[in-house]
Amino acid sequence: MNQSNYQFGSENTRIAIVTGGAQGMGRAVSELLARNGVSVVINDVNKSAVETVAAELEELGLNVKPVAGDVTSSKDVDRLVNETIAEFGSVNILVNNAGVLRPTKVIDIEESEWDFVVGVNLKGTFLCSKAVLPYMQTQKWGRIVNFSSTAGKNVSTVGGAHYTSAKAGILGFTRHLAKESAGYGITVNSVCPGLIDTEMVNSTISEEKKQEYANSFPIKRLGQVREVADLVGFLVSDKAAYITGASIDINGGDLMI
Ligand SMILES: NC(=O)c1ccc[n+]([C@@H]2O[C@H](COP(=O)([O-])OP(=O)(O)OC[C@H]3O[C@@H](n4cnc5c(N)ncnc54)[C@H](O)[C@@H]3O)[C@@H](O)[C@H]2O)c1
Repeated sequence: MNQSNYQFGSENTRIAIVTGGAQGMGRAVSELLARNGVSVVINDVNKSAVETVAAELEELGLNVKPVAGDVTSSKDVDRLVNETIAEFGSVNILVNNAGVLRPTKVIDIEESEWDFVVGVNLKGTFLCSKAVLPYMQTQKWGRIVNFSSTAGKNVSTVGGAHYTSAKAGILGFTRHLAKESAGYGITVNSVCPGLIDTEMVNSTISEEKKQEYANSFPIKRLGQVREVADLVGFLVSDKAAYITGASIDINGGDLMI
């Protein structure tokens, strides 16, 4: 992965938390930020996976720290932020990437599955944002990027209505928090990926179905994690200071609105 030459505030504001960073887009974002001089706390509910990823990145000489925890637990989220502060002294970049998807049709969604999918995607985004705000407000510099999806603007390609609802909710939360935070030098934006080649997709649909979807997009392939990481890298950099409350599509032309 190459460096992108982004600047992230001053020297003491280059501290990030990336949730769900043990694989997929969260891992790619963690690596891109760390390669650009950001100290990155990588969170994931999968303890062994996040520790392995952090060890791999540390071997490359990157400044990362793993903190296992569930973003739907305020206790875990408080510990995540406290450990970040203890290690690096502050936190100024938050990437709310952790998410789960289930393909269930509405008629078959159990209440517990609704709560799980909406909880990880939407409540997790709220809890982590709330926990970092005091530090960003004090420093008068902050960047929050929330992972919505094409699903948030349209209908999920492979997920169910709980996933679509949660991702639409993230867009509303993003706009509202952006308005509340602008006066503190904090920007809040969403990214809306289309179908990206990750475990989330590979564990949900067959290779044949993937190809079928790929052929239906104007750019006839799935997106790559690095492409989404580059977008996030730009949004959390100084160059994106005038972008807030936005939702940026990255979907190979699948949705044009
Ligand atoms: N892959 C796609 O096509 C696609 C498209 C649009 C949006 N998204 C969104 O992008 C984000 C990343 O997706 P991905 O494809 O890389 O997913 P992924 O499934 O490959 O990785 C998600 C990571 O989040 C972690 N996680 C799950 N629940 C968690 C919790 N409660 N607390 C902390 N970590 C948790 C998982 O352990 C996993 O490591 C998600 O929010 C997803 O909904 C994905």
